[in-house]
Amino acid sequence: MSVKKPSYYNHNGFLMPMGFPIEGFTSALKYEAQSSDIFLVTYPKCGTTWTQYILWLMQHQGEPLSSSEKLETYIPHIEEVGKETIENLPKPRVIKTHLPYQLTPYHPQAKYIYVARNPFDCAVSFYHHTRGFIKHYDFADGTFDDFFECFIIGEVDFGDYFDHLVPWYEHKNDKNVLFFTYETMKTDLKSIIIKIAKFLGDNYIKCIENEKILNKIIINSSLENMKKEQQRWSSKRPENMPSFVRKGEIGDWKNYFSSEQQQRLTEKFMMKTSGTNLETLWLHQAS
Ligand code: A3P
Repeated sequence: MSVKKPSYYNHNGFLMPMGFPIEGFTSALKYEAQSSDIFLVTYPKCGTTWTQYILWLMQHQGEPLSSSEKLETYIPHIEEVGKETIENLPKPRVIKTHLPYQLTPYHPQAKYIYVARNPFDCAVSFYHHTRGFIKHYDFADGTFDDFFECFIIGEVDFGDYFDHLVPWYEHKNDKNVLFFTYETMKTDLKSIIIKIAKFLGDNYIKCIENEKILNKIIINSSLENMKKEQQRWSSKRPENMPSFVRKGEIGDWKNYFSSEQQQRLTEKFMMKTSGTNLETLWLHQAS
């Protein structure tokens, strides 16, 4: 079977989107994490932008971004912009990254928020993302079957899904790590916002103790609102491509996976997570 592959920037074996300047990546690795930093860490397509916006709303009493502002200006993606842009942010800095655990800039007092999503929906979302960003991947006419073959062997940008998830999961009980899932955000967003506030401390707790502000955060970060406002924080896509905030559902994978693909990803899941109890994470939500 011949498989169409997306194009990537291969940086010493680590694949990156072609639109990201490679200097950004090398410079990101050299960033010296500060004790006041808050890192938002995800594998691509696992709820980054949603959490990013929630963090922003929590810092702004639930008020939405104005039409002249971009989320990425306030919470930049370190591998894209490089360390100088991050160093120019006022402290405390909030930094988005898709870097795996061993490459993420570390400070024992910095805080790390990790959002995980089940690999099946992640693969489907990643497929649409890869198809849609033509300048990054040159994959507009790639099929899900093509993309699946790359995803299952980890030949996608930011590497293998499991190599990202498992090491972070092993640190989920560290004092400076908050680990939760996209699926819990979908089913109980309020509890996640409260957890984030408790993790980040007094200013955030004060903000959400006000019921009105808490509700504003929930409403402004809803799928419907983010669909409307997404043009502000994501690059425009061609008309015929799915938008960045796409379906936002649990279980869309069932519309894409063949039973053979389901079996292969399940087998890989079992193999890569053996000895952890990761298999229980999505037991009730994603099947
Ligand atoms: P789908 O492609 O499955 O719809 P990331 O920001 O990490 O790239 O993740 C993108 C995924 O998060 C997309 O998933 C997108 O639709 C979903 N998403 C973004 N905002 C959301 C929201 N407010 N509620 C639910 N899902 C959201």
